Order: sequence, then structure tokens, then C-alpha cells
Amino acid sequence: MYYLSLYVHILSAIFWIGGMLFTVAVLVPVSQHKIIEPNRGTFFKIIGEKFSRISWLLFLILIITGITNLTTRGFELSLFLDPNFWQTGFGYYLGIKLMIFGIVLIISGLHDFYFGPKAARLINSDPGSPQTQTFRKISSWLGRMNLLFGLMIVYYAMRVVRG
Ligand code: HEM
Repeated sequence: MYYLSLYVHILSAIFWIGGMLFTVAVLVPVSQHKIIEPNRGTFFKIIGEKFSRISWLLFLILIITGITNLTTRGFELSLFLDPNFWQTGFGYYLGIKLMIFGIVLIISGLHDFYFGPKAARLINSDPGSPQTQTFRKISSWLGRMNLLFGLMIVYYAMRVVRG
């Protein structure tokens, strides 16, 4: 059960991080192509909505498998309430990882449910306006911040088990 949980946990992490890297390294540059440019807003809306749904499902799977990683390792969940646990190597790095994960959830919410959809709508309705530029910039920076935080989570995930 422990290996199955960890396997699904790592696969979910790979899918989410991989999706963000693909977006930044492939989709954004490709969206500048003259074939896509006229429908750029719709392009990002369709892809953004699909990846957002997948991401929130992955977050749920990461939380569930994260908890089963702990319980199948023999950790009582009551340990979470013990301040000493968060001082230990395992608890210390898990604490940092979970704090960054919390920030990722907030940024994902802002990006997926407000700035992203608004930017996609504005790109179609009023591509040249300063407001459109602002929302596009905020959305892309939120996306980049989440990628950076995602990479930090993987680093601290690695330190959780290795100290
Ligand atoms: C975006 C969110 C997350 C990502 C990207 C992520 C990624 C990872 C990765 C890559 C590992 C394997 C580390 C290694 O073996 O070197 C791991 C392990 C682990 N993760 Fe996460 N994780 C996330 C969220 C969570 C959450 C929410 C929890 C707790 C509720 C959690 C608990 C754990 C635990 C306990 C391990 C250690 C498993 C073990 O080897 O015993 N993770 N995580």
C-alpha cells in the first residue's frame, strides 16, 4: 500500500509539474504563431480550463496520497498537532513543503478562477487594451510563480525522506 500510494503521488507530481513546464516551454511560444494568434484567447481558454480541471484533481490526489504516504509509513495523524514533530528533519521539510503547497493552492485559485478566465475573455474582446495587457501579464506571472513553487515542492519532497 505504501509503494502504491507513493507511486501514485509521484506520478501526480510529474503530471502537474510536466504540464506547467509544457505550458511555459511549448504552448506559450507556439501561441505566437500566425495560425494561432487570431484565436489566442480561445486557445488559452480551452487549454487553460482543461489543465485547470486536471490540476485540481491532481491536487486532491496529492493530498490523499500524501496522507496515506504518512500513515502507511507508520505516522499517526495526531503527530501533526505535536509542535515537536515539525522540528524533526522529516517534519521540518514536510512543513515547508506543505506551506508552499498552500501558496500554490491560493495562486492556482487566483489564476484559474479569476485572472486566467478574465485575460482569455479580454484577449478575444479587446486584444489591444491596456487592461488586457495587465490581465495577461498577471496571469502569466501567476503561472510562472506556480511553476517555481512546484519545483520548490519537489526539492523539499526529496528532503522530507532524505533529510
Ligand atoms: C503539489 C503538491 C505535491 C508535490 C509536487 C509532491 C511531490 C512529492 C514527491 C516528488 C515525492 C517523492 C520524494 C522522494 O521520494 O524523493 C513526495 C513524497 C512525499 N510527499 Fe508529496 N507532493 C505534494 C504534496 C504533498 C502533500 C499535500 C502531502 C501531505 C499531505 C505530501 C506528503 C508526502 C510524503 C509524506 C512524502 C514521502 C513519502 C515517502 O517517501 O515516504 N505531499 N512528494
